Amino acid sequence: MTVEREIPLSEAEIAVHWREEGYFSPPPKFIGQANASDPSIVDRYAEDRFPDCFTEYAELLSWDSYWHTVLDTSDPPFWKWFTGGRLNASYNCVDRHLAKDRNKAALIWVAEPENEPDAVITYQELYRRVNEFAALLRDYCGVRTGDRVTFHLPMVPELPVAMLACARLGAIHSEVFGGFSGTACGGRMADSGSRILVTMDGYYRNGQLADHKAKADEAVAEAAKQGQQVDKVLVFRRHRDRYSSPTPMVEGRDVFVDDILPEFRGRVVEPVSMPAEAPLFLMYTSGTTGKPKGCQHSTGGYLAYVAGTSKYYQDIHPQDTYWCCADIGWITGHSYIVYGPLALGTTTVLFEGAPTHPDAGRCWRIAERLGVTIFHTAPTTIRMLRKLGPEEPARYNYHFKHMTTVGEPIEPEVWRWYHRVVGKGEAVVVDTWWQTENGGFLGATLPALQPMKPGSCGPGVLGVYPVIYDEDGNTVEPGSGRAGNMCIRNPWPGIFQTIWGQPERFVDTYFRKYCRDPESKDWRDWPYFAGDGAVQAEDGYFRILGRVDDVINVAGHRLGTKELESASLTVEEIAEAAAVPVIDETRGRAVEMYVSLKPGQQPGKAVADKVSAAIDREIGKIARPKHVWIVSDMPKTRSGKIMRRVIAGISNFADVGDVSTLANPEIVDDIRHHVQSQKVDLGEVPRELSAQEADEIKAFGQEG
Ligand code: PRX
Repeated sequence: MTVEREIPLSEAEIAVHWREEGYFSPPPKFIGQANASDPSIVDRYAEDRFPDCFTEYAELLSWDSYWHTVLDTSDPPFWKWFTGGRLNASYNCVDRHLAKDRNKAALIWVAEPENEPDAVITYQELYRRVNEFAALLRDYCGVRTGDRVTFHLPMVPELPVAMLACARLGAIHSEVFGGFSGTACGGRMADSGSRILVTMDGYYRNGQLADHKAKADEAVAEAAKQGQQVDKVLVFRRHRDRYSSPTPMVEGRDVFVDDILPEFRGRVVEPVSMPAEAPLFLMYTSGTTGKPKGCQHSTGGYLAYVAGTSKYYQDIHPQDTYWCCADIGWITGHSYIVYGPLALGTTTVLFEGAPTHPDAGRCWRIAERLGVTIFHTAPTTIRMLRKLGPEEPARYNYHFKHMTTVGEPIEPEVWRWYHRVVGKGEAVVVDTWWQTENGGFLGATLPALQPMKPGSCGPGVLGVYPVIYDEDGNTVEPGSGRAGNMCIRNPWPGIFQTIWGQPERFVDTYFRKYCRDPESKDWRDWPYFAGDGAVQAEDGYFRILGRVDDVINVAGHRLGTKELESASLTVEEIAEAAAVPVIDETRGRAVEMYVSLKPGQQPGKAVADKVSAAIDREIGKIARPKHVWIVSDMPKTRSGKIMRRVIAGISNFADVGDVSTLANPEIVDDIRHHVQSQKVDLGEVPRELSAQEADEIKAFGQEG
């Protein structure tokens, strides 16, 4: 079957079928207290004020000495911000708040078991802990300025303490998300040349005390296999004086932190004054091909950027109680649980567990009990909470002024539930688009000044000028209805400095595609290629369509997975949806949808038909799914992202790859049986895939 099209689409273009959504205005009460309420702020960050406009962000910090150059472009695209300046990140997040706010809570840690008391850590207490742990790292482990130290820590206060202790010494921390395997951690240790691992014996997740120490042994073995010796494993204990793991300690290598910490009681470590462009940390992110990329973030530019965006976009005031319900193991947690909020001297909440444990009311109970004013989470959590407890928020007496969403495009249906039910219509919603590589927000609305539009992240943030290019580097005009590649025309202070140990890959992946002149020292010749597809409305708002490598090409139409999923979610009964490609002899690829239902809904052909009809209606017949599979749950990562490559593998009778790191690996066999037995009955077993097809399916849904 061929499909006739009026306008040929290039490979870069994605068919766009979104409907424009209407605006929502911020409540007057919010505007009255907002950090950014004067419209002239937008002019202060206009392009003719770049790069000097960003000195305002830098002025939010305390510097040991000021910079002589705001932006040094002498070695493109390795931009340097605030060169000549010196500062210490730990000093900025802790010490400088002592004079005024010594006894104010810096961190409030909420354990997963609901009967365990919170740990409330004041700025004074944080100062003590950071100093003692810095002394231990320096004098017991021999950590020096510039060394890399790997953490494989769950959501416990020891994690920000360890980050700030490294920052105090000018050592580079590299936190590996606690849910990742020991092998993944070991690979990252080898890549960064790290000889110290900081970990914990166990932690609670979904009611279970996980054996986390076992992963440390795997990590050390993997690092050794890759040529990196690990000298010391520092093990925090989840329960005081009780070892919570069945995995033995290794003599001479492993040590309980609480056994040696008393030697460092009361020790004070002078913060090392670091150059602005010294690396602060590495954050690894996966690529479609090749090994994970260690994104290297700077001290001065990064800290200034997260402080500025936290102030204006999250509207953090020192008196707020701010809760970002994400994991510090991701960039969101580094920037917007630890560094941004603490640089501004606010109270930041850390939650150990799963947002739905023991039930879908847990988050709202925490918000009520702690008086949370700003709430920040990801669409995947919002969808989950909506699925399991659509009426729960109304049962609790909390009041948010502000809510953030981050990490993936949010379907307008889900956005509206977040706004109306979670926010009780009283809170602004700020959809923030950015990436691990970026340090902080790139696309978002200024909450008191720019109206919200469900499903759109908004315009570029202050001082950031995005553009959509087609494959040939032509600008795709706003309002044209055409999609293309999301790019940023200029550098910004939060941008990563390089990929650790792979500078050519840094240039190739992010800058080669649209570089106008490799010899040029002008930043205008080096647009940043984000790897996301996007469309820009006439009002300048961007709608992110997902990774450009996450599209399904049906008979030459590149369909964004997100719009297929959004269309499915317009069906009342549907809680979650995931679109995957199947190899199709006539159309190249066809779409299969996987959906899960809200509680109390009955699976059956009627619901599946409604999903097909919704896709027909919202997108067109071209996108009509070959099958709609109703499943009890989706295979998900520990951070809650749906693993599309696993279901794509099932749909194509192909290898599903490693599923051991999923949050719910047991679901894979159930889905496989359910789907493949029906396909066999219908005579739909495909021929064996070519190597290229198999690779495509395997790479599907991986982050770029
Ligand atoms: O595709 C975009 C999507 O998440 C990718 C970045 O993922 P990661 O590096 O893990 O960082 C996530 C947290 C910053 C982007 O390339 N993404 C992130 N935020 C949004 C988004 N897609 C749409 N809307 C967003 N608000």
